[in-house]
Amino acid sequence: MTAIATDWAFRASEVTKVYPGGARANDALTLHVEPGEVYGLLGPNGAGKSTLVKQIIGLLKPTSGSLAIGPHDLVAQPDVARQLCSYLPQAQMPIDSFKAAEAIELTGRIRGGDPATVRARTDTLIEALDIGEWRDEMGVKLSGGVKRLVGFAMATVWPGRLVILDEPTNDVDPLRRRLLWEQVRRLSAEGCAVMLVTHNVLEAEKSVDRLAVIMDGTIVAEGTPSALKAQDRGQLRLQVMLSPGVTTPEAPDWVRHPVRVGNNLVTTIDESAAAAGIDWAVGLMGAGVAEEYALGATTLEDVYIRLTGHASANGTGGEA
Ligand SMILES: Nc1ncnc2c1ncn2[C@@H]1O[C@H](COP(=O)(O)OP(=O)(O)O)[C@@H](O)[C@H]1O
Ligand SMILES: [Mg+2]
Repeated sequence: MTAIATDWAFRASEVTKVYPGGARANDALTLHVEPGEVYGLLGPNGAGKSTLVKQIIGLLKPTSGSLAIGPHDLVAQPDVARQLCSYLPQAQMPIDSFKAAEAIELTGRIRGGDPATVRARTDTLIEALDIGEWRDEMGVKLSGGVKRLVGFAMATVWPGRLVILDEPTNDVDPLRRRLLWEQVRRLSAEGCAVMLVTHNVLEAEKSVDRLAVIMDGTIVAEGTPSALKAQDRGQLRLQVMLSPGVTTPEAPDWVRHPVRVGNNLVTTIDESAAAAGIDWAVGLMGAGVAEEYALGATTLEDVYIRLTGHASANGTGGEA
């Protein structure tokens, strides 16, 4: 071991990607993820998240800009990029003809892990994620949630310096989601830089150290969850559950950023407008337009809605 510690941070500098058709999917993106940090990349569909990830792991070349982990240029050396990065794609891995434990162990071996350590880490992950009852089940027979957990174990059994997780908890039950987040924390404690790609803001709020909100290929906000929420100090979230089938009611102009997801109307109001907000909601209930309302503290979800105009997945109890 050398006495001089290498800086193993991941850095994207001024990354621009223009697709052949002309779509500018990334526009001068600059961000970094430090070893031991869990960094969230949030943004609605089409924001440019997957395009960035594909460039990091060498599947696409940036039109301009640079991507590096420590001293390694990922664009010039896609093979090194694949070694230094672990990746859980959003789409399920094709593991139909492998047993769950086999798929995890094989991935660790392919990534260069020594057999004994890989076997031990496989066992540890299977236990930690509570998927022991499926360890010898063929992939084709696994439920979506268990497959997702196996995919996570495959991506992290022999982790690179940067671990990229694209919507890791999709289809996973709430109990095992918590187990998965504990493993993400363990990875960061071991010194991995973790990039979490998601449009589930509430989950990100609980699990990331820092995050960026990306829109139309550029970063529109970046910081810790509490720093981003501090921008909304003095605001409240007023959520109105509309009656099934009604058209969205006209909101007074002091009711800001109304976004409807299913029958849920999520809005932001000033603290000083709390009483007026309640009157408005109660009026809607009296008119049969709404069934109930809730007034509470703003969350990262409200910041996200203000920045993107979109509700996030699961953030409002509805489907985005
Ligand atoms: N292969 C492609 N060719 C042309 N345009 C693409 C391609 N892939 C993505 N895009 C466009 O680039 C933009 C960003 O897409 P993407 O990176 O997939 O966003 P996200 O992962 O945030 O949903 C979108 O406008 C999308 O239509
Ligand atoms: Mg995507």
